[in-house]
Amino acid sequence: MNKLNDTDFGTPERVSDTQITLEIDGMTVTVPAGTSVMRASTIAGVNVPKLCATDSLEAFGSCRVCLVEIEGRKGYPASCTTPVENGMKVKTQTSKLADIRRGMMELYISDHPLDCLTCPTNGNCELQDVAGIVGLREVRYGYKGKNHLELKKDESNPYFTYDASKCIVCNRCVRACEETQGTFALTIDGRGFDSRVAAGQNDSFMESDCVSCGACVQACPTATLTEKTVIMMGQAEHSAITTCAYCGVGCSFKAEMKGNEVVRMVPHKDGKANHGHSCVKGRFAWGYATHQDRMLKPMIRKKITDPWQEVSWDEAIGYAASEFRRIQAKHGKDSIGGITSSRCTNEETYLVQKLVRAAFGNNNVDTCARVCHSPTGYGLKQTLGESAGTQTFDSVMHADVIMVIGANPVAAHPVFASQMKRRLRQGAKLIVVDPRTTEMVKGAHYSADYHLKLRPGTNVAVISAMAHVVVTEGLVKEDFVKERCDMTSFEEWRTFAARAENSPEAMEAVTGIPAETLRAAARMYATGGNAAIYYGLGVTEHAQGSTMVMGIANLAMATGNVGREGVGVNPLRGQNNVQGSCDMGSFPHELPGYRHISDSIARAEFEARWNVTLNPEPGLRIPNMFDAALDGSFMGLYCQGEDIVQSDPDTQHVASALSAMECIVVQDLFLNETAKYAHVFLPGSSFLEKDGTFTNAERRISRVTKVMPAKAGYSDWEVTQLLANALGYPMQYKHPSEIMDEIAALTPTFHGVSFKKIEQLGSVQWPCNENAPDGTPIMHIDAFVRGKGRFIITQYVPTDEKVTKRFPLILTTGRILSQYNVGAQTRRTENVRWHSEDRLEIHPHDAEERGIRQDDWVGIESRSGQTVLRATITENVQPGVVYTTFHFPESGANVITTDNSDWATNCPEYKVTAVQVMPVTQPSEWQREYERFNKQQLELAKVD
Ligand code: SF4
Ligand code: SF4
Ligand code: SF4
Ligand code: FES
Repeated sequence: MNKLNDTDFGTPERVSDTQITLEIDGMTVTVPAGTSVMRASTIAGVNVPKLCATDSLEAFGSCRVCLVEIEGRKGYPASCTTPVENGMKVKTQTSKLADIRRGMMELYISDHPLDCLTCPTNGNCELQDVAGIVGLREVRYGYKGKNHLELKKDESNPYFTYDASKCIVCNRCVRACEETQGTFALTIDGRGFDSRVAAGQNDSFMESDCVSCGACVQACPTATLTEKTVIMMGQAEHSAITTCAYCGVGCSFKAEMKGNEVVRMVPHKDGKANHGHSCVKGRFAWGYATHQDRMLKPMIRKKITDPWQEVSWDEAIGYAASEFRRIQAKHGKDSIGGITSSRCTNEETYLVQKLVRAAFGNNNVDTCARVCHSPTGYGLKQTLGESAGTQTFDSVMHADVIMVIGANPVAAHPVFASQMKRRLRQGAKLIVVDPRTTEMVKGAHYSADYHLKLRPGTNVAVISAMAHVVVTEGLVKEDFVKERCDMTSFEEWRTFAARAENSPEAMEAVTGIPAETLRAAARMYATGGNAAIYYGLGVTEHAQGSTMVMGIANLAMATGNVGREGVGVNPLRGQNNVQGSCDMGSFPHELPGYRHISDSIARAEFEARWNVTLNPEPGLRIPNMFDAALDGSFMGLYCQGEDIVQSDPDTQHVASALSAMECIVVQDLFLNETAKYAHVFLPGSSFLEKDGTFTNAERRISRVTKVMPAKAGYSDWEVTQLLANALGYPMQYKHPSEIMDEIAALTPTFHGVSFKKIEQLGSVQWPCNENAPDGTPIMHIDAFVRGKGRFIITQYVPTDEKVTKRFPLILTTGRILSQYNVGAQTRRTENVRWHSEDRLEIHPHDAEERGIRQDDWVGIESRSGQTVLRATITENVQPGVVYTTFHFPESGANVITTDNSDWATNCPEYKVTAVQVMPVTQPSEWQREYERFNKQQLELAKVD
C-alpha cells in the first residue's frame, strides 16, 4: 500500500548470465534465470494479483491469490514462488483462476473490518485493490463467524499504529523486519486461525526489540501497520524525491505531501544508497522542521546581555555586513572568518567558503568536519591519493571479511548496517575493533568472530601489530604491492612493521588485546578473501587519528584489499554532508576539490572566475579561531548551521572565546547554544525548504528538493548571497544549479556533475568528469589516484591524556540510533521516547568501588571541567572505561573533553579523556551556570 506510483514487481530482481524466454498470456518475455513467473508477468505488462509478495522481500507463497496455470503442469502454482523456465506457457487469467482468487479473497474479507470509507489507507490499500481486481462481489461465509475484529490496537509506537483487527497474516512485516532491517523483532504468534503478528514475546512494539525503522509499515499491504501522520492527515496528493538530512548514508526518500505539508517520508526504492530502506530518523523524525522552536525572524543585538530585536532581512544583513567591515577596519582583514556546516548542501557550503575567501578576503574558513573526519581527508590523501572512501555501500555484499574499527553502524549508519548484517547472515566473517561491546559485536543471527576490545587511545598500536603479523607471517600480497605501490615506502614500512616492538605480544600490555586473538584476527583479514574495512570516529577522534587512518590504508594496500568490489577503506561519515563540506573547500588550506591554496595554478582559476585576488596562505582552523579570539585578534564570525558551543571540545574554552568576539552571526533553524553568544541571528531553512545536493559517505551526490517554501523567506544559500552583496562582493545566482555549474567548472573531479546529470542518473559518485562521465563507484581500480600507493610509518605514540590517581578512568563518547549529534533536530521529535537523557555507562566493578548504584547521579571530572549525569551500570564497557553520549546540551559532555587533538589536523581527541567519577547529589557548577544562562537567553529571545 505504501508504494504510491511505484511498480511493485512482486519478487526481487535476479541477476544471471542465462536468459529465459517464456510466454505469458500469449506475450513473449525474456528475463534472467531465477526470476519468478510473477516478476516476469509484471515485466510483460501483465499484473497478477498478489498479497503476500512484494519485490523488496523473498517470495513466501502464503496468500494463494497469485495462482496461475502453466501448460503441462498439474494444479495452480503460485506465480511468486515459481521460477521461470524456457518455453513455459503461462496463463494468468482464466475463469478457474478467477474463481479460486475470489474464493481466497472471500475468506480474507470475512475476517476484515468493512470500514473502507473511513479507513486511513482507503485508496492506497493492496487488499482493497486485489478485492477490486478479482471482482469480489459477495462474501458467502458472511461476517458473523469467528473473527478478530475486536482486537485492540497497539498505539505504543509514537510513529505508527498496529491495528491487529486488519491483519491478513501475510507475513510481509515479519520478513521485512528480518530481511530488510535485520532486527527480527516480529513473529507470527499462534496457529491457524488464531495466528497474529506479535512484537517480541507478545509485547507492545515499544517494549519489544523494535527500533522503529518502519520497514514493516512500508511492507504491510493493509492498514494494519500505518503511519500516525497518515491516520491524521489522510493520503498524500503529490510527492518529490529528496535526500535524508541526517547521517552520511544519504538515504533517498519520496516526500509525500499534501499541499506544503509532509504526510510521510517513504524511502525511495530506486535510492542507490538505501534501496527503499530507512531508519527511524529519516522516515519519522522530520517533525523538527515545523517545530514551534523554529526561529523565523532575523534578529540583532549589540551585546549578548541585550534583548534580541526582530528586524527585517535587509536590516539584519546590513548590520552583519557593517559589523564585519567595522571589525576588519579596526583589527585587520584577518580578524573575521566563517564556519560551514556538514548539515547544509554542497551549494551552500561552497558559497560560504567563497564568501570568506572572496568577500572577507582571507582563508579563515573551517567546517565541523574538523572535529570528525579531517584525519580521513589527510590520511587517505597521503596514502591513496584521494580524501574519500573507496567503495559503494553495495560493495559490502561482496566482502568475505568485514572489519569494523571504531564505528557502530547499527546506531550511527543504520541502513548501511542492515545491509552489512545481511552479508554477515550470508556467512561473511566479522572483526570488530572497539573498546565497547556495541550492537555491532553481536546481533540477531550474527556475532563477531573477533572482538578486539582495545584500551581507548591505542588504535595505532593495534594496527601496527596487525601489520606486524602480515609482514612477518608472509601474508603480504607481493604482486599487488609490486605493481601498485611505491616500493621504497613499502620496504621502509615492512621493516618498521616487522620490528619486535610492534608484535602483538609486545603491544598486548598497551592495547589490552591478547596477542593470539590479535594474530588470529590479522590472519583472517589478510587471508579470508575480500576484506573490507569500515571505520568511524573511533579512529579519527584521537591524538593519532591521522596516523591510524594511514595505518588502515597501509594494511589494505599490503594485503591487496583495494580497487575492486568487496574490499576497500571506507570511512563512515557521520553527518549527511561531511564528505561534501570537505569536497567544497571548507578547510582553510584547501580550495574546492582539495587543491591547496598555495597552488598558484588552482588559485589562478578561482581568481579568474571569482574576479578577486586570493591570499595564498592558509587561514585559521576552528581551534585557532578560538585562541585568536582570546588573544583579541579574531573578532567576527559567520557560523552557518553549526553549533560549535555544544559540539566542540572544552565547552568553557569555546564559550570564553565566543564571549570575547565583537560580532557573531549565527544562521540556524533554532536558537542553538552558539546563538546564545550571537549578535545577529539569521533564520535557517530545513532540507525540505531548499534545492541543492548532499554527498554521502560513498561520494554519492544526490538531490535535495525543495518541497515547501522557505519558512523564513529565504533558503540558506540565498542568505549567504545577500550577505556577500551587502559586503560589496556581487553574487547573482538564481538557482543552486548555477552554483553547482560553477563548482563543476572549477573542480576537476566534478567536471561532469550537474543537476541534470544527477536527475538523469538518480545520483552520481564523484569523480565524475571526462574520464568517468557517469561517475566512479569504486576508486583506485587500476592505479591509485596518486599514482603509486604510498606506505607511511605509523609509530604508536601514547596520548598525553593519561590516567592518573586523580583521573583513573578513561571516558569515551559516541552516539545512539534515535538521537543525532547535538540533538537539535531529534530532541524536537518523538525520538526522545527512546533516549531522553545522556547517561554515563560504567562497569559494575568501577561502580561498586565508588559506591555507585544504577541510576545514581554521578559527577564526572576531567582536567577541563565537571558535569553530572545519571549512571547506567553495564558490562558493555570494560573496567577502567566509561562512556557517554552528547545529545543534550545540559549534559555538558564537552565540558569534560579536553583540547588535545590530532597532530596533523587538530581533530579533537573526543574519544580519550581521563576522568574521575563519584556519586553526587546536585548538578555541577557548570550545569547550574548553564541553566541560568540558558534561561536568561531564552528570556532575551522572547519577542512580541
Ligand atoms: S519498525 Fe523496523 S524494527 Fe520495528 S518491527 Fe518494524 S521492521 Fe522491525
Ligand atoms: S501486519 Fe500487515 S504485513 Fe504484517 S502480517 Fe498483518 S497484514 Fe501482513
Ligand atoms: S540511515 Fe541515515 S540517511 Fe538513512 S534514514 Fe537513517 S539517518 Fe537518514
Ligand atoms: S502473492 Fe504469491 S502466494 Fe501470495
